[in-house]
Amino acid sequence: MKTRAAVLWDVGQDWKIEEVELDDPGPGEIIVKTKVAGLCHSDEHVLQGDMAMSNEQMSAFGLPPAFPMIGGHEGAGEVIAVGDGVSTLVVGDHVSASFIPSCGRCRWCATGQQNLCDLGARVFEPGMITDGRVAHHIGGTDTAVLAKLGTFSEHMLVSEDSMVKIESDLPFGPAALVSCGVATGWGSAVHRAEVQSGETVVVIGVGGIGANAVQGAKMAGARRVIAIDPLEFKREKAMEFGATHTFASLEEATPAIAEMTWGQNADKVIITVGLVEGSMIAPAMAIVRKGGTLVVTSIANMMATDVQLSLFDLAMMNKQIKGTIFGSGNPRFDIPNLLSMYRDGTLKLDELITNSYTLDQINEGYQDMRDGRNIRGVIVFD
Ligand SMILES: NC(=O)c1ccc[n+]([C@@H]2O[C@H](COP(=O)([O-])OP(=O)(O)OC[C@H]3O[C@@H](n4cnc5c(N)ncnc54)[C@H](O)[C@@H]3O)[C@@H](O)[C@H]2O)c1
Ligand SMILES: [Zn+2]
Ligand SMILES: [Zn+2]
Repeated sequence: MKTRAAVLWDVGQDWKIEEVELDDPGPGEIIVKTKVAGLCHSDEHVLQGDMAMSNEQMSAFGLPPAFPMIGGHEGAGEVIAVGDGVSTLVVGDHVSASFIPSCGRCRWCATGQQNLCDLGARVFEPGMITDGRVAHHIGGTDTAVLAKLGTFSEHMLVSEDSMVKIESDLPFGPAALVSCGVATGWGSAVHRAEVQSGETVVVIGVGGIGANAVQGAKMAGARRVIAIDPLEFKREKAMEFGATHTFASLEEATPAIAEMTWGQNADKVIITVGLVEGSMIAPAMAIVRKGGTLVVTSIANMMATDVQLSLFDLAMMNKQIKGTIFGSGNPRFDIPNLLSMYRDGTLKLDELITNSYTLDQINEGYQDMRDGRNIRGVIVFD
């Protein structure tokens, strides 16, 4: 079938709307009519070249081109076709996309760590995760698909392992956001930082991920949730999501956090800025208390390897630094669970959506993200 999608033709270019030809769904595959897609910063990392190499760089390494690529890894929609052997979904089911597929059988899936599923590695290989064939084309050209989802497309041809069934009366906006931003931010606080009742938690960067780290910390019972963002709009929003204090910079926050904790500093610090750099680690670790934890959720440039860190302080103060993907949760549990908390009224999801765009307005949406105008922007499909 034919569909329309936002495509990147190389690093550093704008999104272009293209007509895409999708093959019929093969065994284990489905076609989803996309309803809402979220504009996460991770797609911006592909555009900026933090998380992808240009076709010229790939060719210099003797590798096949990474572009064109259909974008988008946060979204929700409705199943409109199923291939042979699909056992978990039927036509008409509502689904939320999972940027890490879950096979249910590998060591990680079998031990409650679906965010580490072995199928996740296949997301960076060419072709479908089911059988490796290339099933998306633009004219005569094969195209890659971000996270094997491509939510910036009116229709998605995907493996059933990449989709999580949700209750069909839930609105698609919230269902799209729990697919990446909410699960990652909330899980960064609850699963990875393991925030405990009464703790002091610092969240650095209040975008779609950070706002949910604030919500997660609050729901886990933190006594203080301190949000840091240079933009006033973000700091105001952080208060709506449960922050107790806000600061414009880490420099400004550092002495205040020491004072309010009687010199102990924060139990947990979570980095959710747009792009993390190695120079941020030492100042972030400086506000972690003895025995406390720093969680790094933000994505860095994939070639960056230098980090500023006091190794003396790390060992002698018994601290830890943890990375996280998908907030260290299990997509098949966390996505429906977050939606249940939304249904109960304890998790705010509608409030995360600042602006809606059509597919054709995607570049405008990403410019608004760069300008700090959105907690989350979403594409709403017809
Ligand atoms: N680990 C994962 O599984 C995972 C999943 C999704 C997104 N991410 C990453 O999380 C990060 C955040 O994504 P997002 O969609 O929320 O981005 P966003 O652009 O919506 O928000 C980033 C926020 O950080 C703020 N900021 C930038 N520099 C800052 C600084 N020095 N101090 C304080 N605040 C600062 C910005 O003003 C903005 O409000 C990105 O790197 C994204 O790629 C990681
Ligand atoms: Zn994302
Ligand atoms: Zn698995």
